[in-house]
Amino acid sequence: MKSIPAHGRDAATILDDLRARSARDTDWRGGRVFSLVYHAGEEHEELLRAAHATYASANLLNPMAFASLKQMENELVEMTGRLFHCAGAVGAVTSGGTESILVAVAAYRDRARRERPWIRRPELVVPTTIHPAFDKAAHYFGVRLVKVPVGPDLRADVRAMARAIGWRTIGLVASAPQYPHGLVDPIGELGELAQKKKLPLHVDACVGGFILPWLEKLGRRIPHWDFRVPGVTSISADLHKYGYAGKGASLLLWRSIDAMKYQIFVATDFPGGVYASPTMIGTRPGGPVAAAWAAMQSLGEAGYLALAEKAIGAADRLRDGIAQIPGVALVGNGSATIVAYAGGTGVDTYALADRLEARGWTVDRQHRPASIHLTVTANHAPIVDAYLADLRAAVADVQRDPALAKSGSAPMYGMAAKMPIRRLVAGQVRKMITEMYTRRDP
Ligand SMILES: Cc1ncc(COP(=O)(O)O)c(C=O)c1O
Repeated sequence: MKSIPAHGRDAATILDDLRARSARDTDWRGGRVFSLVYHAGEEHEELLRAAHATYASANLLNPMAFASLKQMENELVEMTGRLFHCAGAVGAVTSGGTESILVAVAAYRDRARRERPWIRRPELVVPTTIHPAFDKAAHYFGVRLVKVPVGPDLRADVRAMARAIGWRTIGLVASAPQYPHGLVDPIGELGELAQKKKLPLHVDACVGGFILPWLEKLGRRIPHWDFRVPGVTSISADLHKYGYAGKGASLLLWRSIDAMKYQIFVATDFPGGVYASPTMIGTRPGGPVAAAWAAMQSLGEAGYLALAEKAIGAADRLRDGIAQIPGVALVGNGSATIVAYAGGTGVDTYALADRLEARGWTVDRQHRPASIHLTVTANHAPIVDAYLADLRAAVADVQRDPALAKSGSAPMYGMAAKMPIRRLVAGQVRKMITEMYTRRDP
């Protein structure tokens, strides 16, 4: 059982210890992991570390005491507002996509409480591909998500969403793009719908916010999804994804302060003083804000364009390569930097995932439909050929031995995906996580 050391250790041995510990984690620098880390090279990483360290103890909870951090937050909002075609956009830095979404849902709820107080059980109309951060927000804040099945192209079905709007609806949500298959929902049509129904529309661009604008500049056909769509009220966009910032930074942007004001929380009775906070957390770490600001200053438009070109090149090569492997097929015909694919007849997708994992890849397994997810970044450009070779070998393994679908973790994923009673699945997963946090050594 660990106790705090009686006497402190020296810095050099602690840092050696940390390096040794981190060496046991997944090899994210080598591009063997998708979606968890967005790596723009060692030099950039060094800058993030130094910027973070400069503000490691600073606290944006008091923007007057840390005016330099507030200035950086303002500049991040202004630079991104311009990128999203709304020079007057306002907003705040949060700790990540989930916090941006939590804050947005709480603000939408509070806006409805003020403007339509007769709604006792507020609802948000969302496509089924929306990120689970919205389920979490709905759970925390007493909002019901009306989940509308996506169309056959896996994009939000606008007509079905229109039909799902009722008198309790307080807003609409869509993604640019959705995480599972990388498809951009029809934001233009949803914006029209939102205006017609006088509802606010949130666009979750957590994964897309800092890649779609560059892809558009590179000549890709990306339908408008940002503040150019008149009905868009707010946008979540993660700096710590394709913004290549350090972890712990996202933005929640609003078209106007009138829409944003509902996210500001004030408590006046605390003996410790009047307390005001624009986001979910109290103490606001300065490190991630400084690192995000430094990332944008260092990369600039040219740097982001170069990274986007590398990422889309790698995604295209993966898509082309996968399309040529008999036994697997792409899921969704996305053209951005997320690729999803599944096993065909006789090739169990989860057995394939196990075989890829055995070859050293960290695999993101999806369901409904069963598929494997790749969030492709600039850092994946060098590994495309190795990945495709391993995928070909994994397909051959599974074709040779279909019983692989009944060994390893494949049956568990297969069963969890197919189990009709979702409460049972939740119970099992809850049990697993509880195990993970249970102490065995007191
Ligand atoms: C579309 C989308 N929204 C929200 C999130 C949540 O972001 P975070 O993990 O930073 O909380 C993600 C993460 O992948 C995402 O892809």
